[in-house]
Amino acid sequence: MTSTELLADTETLPSAPGAEWWRTAVIYQIYPRSFADTNGDGIGDLPGVTAHLDDLRELGVDAIWLSPFQRSPQKDAGYDVADYCDVDPLFGTLADFDAMLAGAHERGIRLIVDLVPNHSSDQHVWFQEALAAAPGSPARARYMFRDGEGAHGELPPNNWESVFGGPAWTRVTESDGTPGQWYLHLFDSSQPDFDWSNPEVRAEFRRVLRFWLDRGVDGFRVDVAHGLIKAEGLPDYTPDPAGGSMGGNEASVPYWAQPGVHEVYRDWHALLAEYDGDRALCAEAWLPTVEKTALWVRPDEMHQAFNFAYLETAWDASALRDIVAESLRAYPAVGAPSTWVLSNHDVVRHASRLALTAENPQGAGIGPLSPGQPIPTLGLRRARAATTVMLALPGSAYLYQGEELGLPEVIDLPDGARQDPTWFRTHGERYGRDGCRVPIPWYSAAPAYGFSPTGASWLPQPSEWAGLARDAQVGDPLSTLTLYRGLLAERRTHRLGAGALEWLGGYGDDVLAFRNGRVTVIANLGAAPVALPEGRMVAASEPVDGRMLPTDTAVWIETE
Ligand code: GLC
Ligand code: CA
Repeated sequence: MTSTELLADTETLPSAPGAEWWRTAVIYQIYPRSFADTNGDGIGDLPGVTAHLDDLRELGVDAIWLSPFQRSPQKDAGYDVADYCDVDPLFGTLADFDAMLAGAHERGIRLIVDLVPNHSSDQHVWFQEALAAAPGSPARARYMFRDGEGAHGELPPNNWESVFGGPAWTRVTESDGTPGQWYLHLFDSSQPDFDWSNPEVRAEFRRVLRFWLDRGVDGFRVDVAHGLIKAEGLPDYTPDPAGGSMGGNEASVPYWAQPGVHEVYRDWHALLAEYDGDRALCAEAWLPTVEKTALWVRPDEMHQAFNFAYLETAWDASALRDIVAESLRAYPAVGAPSTWVLSNHDVVRHASRLALTAENPQGAGIGPLSPGQPIPTLGLRRARAATTVMLALPGSAYLYQGEELGLPEVIDLPDGARQDPTWFRTHGERYGRDGCRVPIPWYSAAPAYGFSPTGASWLPQPSEWAGLARDAQVGDPLSTLTLYRGLLAERRTHRLGAGALEWLGGYGDDVLAFRNGRVTVIANLGAAPVALPEGRMVAASEPVDGRMLPTDTAVWIETE
């Protein structure tokens, strides 16, 4: 397909209610610092994104989600924003942003940007003003400042723990030099939480939304969208250790999923609706069930939510059947599409995760001393099969940069190279997320595999990645890149995103078998080979000889 055809196709997609682009889009996550570096400082930048837009068009994605590029001291890789309406010089300028957005739109690719409303950087002008101001002042009221407990306020206001480990409170020194109040930070101490009961905070974020909407962005991925509102009185709370760091199974957590948060998104929904072109909001809300997550995408709230329950499902056919069925029930029940995702910048890459042999909770990461090390070939084989299943599902799907190359988690990063605050705040007990954030390889023979012209790379790349570089995979019929391109092209041809799923019986417990329109999907998660139905094979996660489907393999078969 030529670029003009592709553009025409995207532009003529109907936007009548029920057919908006975000209902079916494949959205590719760019983690800017690890995508492509043009000025040689070892950190990816916005001109690097612009330079590779043709590659993304060839891959066949509909939209890009760009992780934070706004001004930030980079204590949490940009999720600590100091100025919401400017580009960090590390990544370029607003002019670079505009050029990138125009380039994406010219190619029929939409762009959503990350918005981080739960907290700012401690370098944000508001937080600096709050530190300089007195307890009880309007400047402090934009954040969550409280007096400490104990005779001299020497104890934190409650027992909450940071998602990254350690206490969720830090004590400040008042301007007269005395130990003072404490402020809440659900993440790093450099990420103070806003007080969303303050109308000034609400007004400021409306301004931020408009700033990017006016520039032409197609929507926002909303960071920690289940946070923002904290329970009245900030009651003590001890998380269930089995629950994972971003939300347990408990009925009520005083800092997650508080009912008041929905009002914020209703307000934003109405604001986005003032703009043309189906602008969309996608919730990053780590909640234990699909049912609960669906509350974020009711008709007047957000448009999409990440399906983390799907991401967290083990490589097990019956568990996958259940979560797919539940997702296709719960989201459409509130008028939203289901989304699907297997990897992002916070979790172990699925080419490794699907072969882990021990429990590895989200956020914990995996390092050289972790139990249950994955076998790389097994992980990649399962990842290819998992993606082949995912891209046939109706709804919208998210891809994370580098998964189209079959990149594994980098497990053996030197300790000295690690940068995730989780690693520091847990004193190395949790490796954190650096292993999925290593800069991606473009050209096998170039310095830093084409990531940067000087060979600099903010995290070291493994030498095996020469063989995984994009140029080594283009044109190779067996490469993961070729598989992804084929899947995305067939998905578009068969309009699978807008389709409907029908389960097929008679294949046994270890097999996922369903139809979406004329495409029949069979995935064998069991040990014994499975006989395939008649029809033309249009995609296969591994080469298939004859009509027997081997283990950990998925195929798409076109039937009449
Ligand atoms: C989200 C981001 C993660 C970040 C955290 C704090 O979970 O995806 O990378 O560390 O929020 O902003
Ligand atoms: Ca750079």
